[in-house]
Amino acid sequence: MKIDIITLFPDFFNGFKEHSIIGRAIKNGKLELVTHNLRNQAKDNYGSVDDHPYGGGPGMVLRFDILLNALNEVKAKLKSESPSSYKVILMTPQGQVYKQTIAQKLAREENLILICGHYEGFDERIRDYVDMEISIGDYVLTGGELAAMVITDSIARLLPGVLGDDTSSHEESHSPSTSSGSARLLEYPQYTRPLEYDAKKVPEILTGGNHAKIDEWRKEQSIERTKMRRPDMISDKNI
Ligand code: ADE
Repeated sequence: MKIDIITLFPDFFNGFKEHSIIGRAIKNGKLELVTHNLRNQAKDNYGSVDDHPYGGGPGMVLRFDILLNALNEVKAKLKSESPSSYKVILMTPQGQVYKQTIAQKLAREENLILICGHYEGFDERIRDYVDMEISIGDYVLTGGELAAMVITDSIARLLPGVLGDDTSSHEESHSPSTSSGSARLLEYPQYTRPLEYDAKKVPEILTGGNHAKIDEWRKEQSIERTKMRRPDMISDKNI
């Protein structure tokens, strides 16, 4: 998958691109991450990309022509690569609230173009050129860069071959649980060595070797945990 990110701050993505699972996915060719500096679209010597809002009010607004030219440039390049599918997504606190199900859908695209807003906002007219608007939660960030990283990270780990063990993205919080159809549950508790530390022990069932019992225990733990912590995710008909 290729993800193009249109941003005023391409350097924000440097560490993100280099380290850990994302860094490895890029090195192994599973993910291509390309940043495009909005500032390159500036028409004057000052590099201005924003202006005062018509009608007055505080702050500056990212200009429509700057945003559209950046998007068209990315699209033109993309056309020459002819991906089978792509989506243009605007990062905004007014968008659809991001969820694992959206990550799963987007992971099937061949290419994504993420547009990061900044400062007080962007000219409304850019909305007509995007397929989707996404918010990563009900709070306002200083820009869309962190949101673009959240989306890229959550999608990258779903791509085949990106996580060491392909099953590890299946049995986790917010993934459909295999034995319960559409139910989405929080993940069961996990333990590793040491078996006992600071008087805290690993539950005996996990070391007994009975895998049917372990599966049953984990399923119960998932359900209990979800009921306690995220009752909004669960209803009786779901489990
Ligand atoms: N830009 C500013 N706040 C945001 C949010 N919550 N989600 C996505 N983009 C944003």
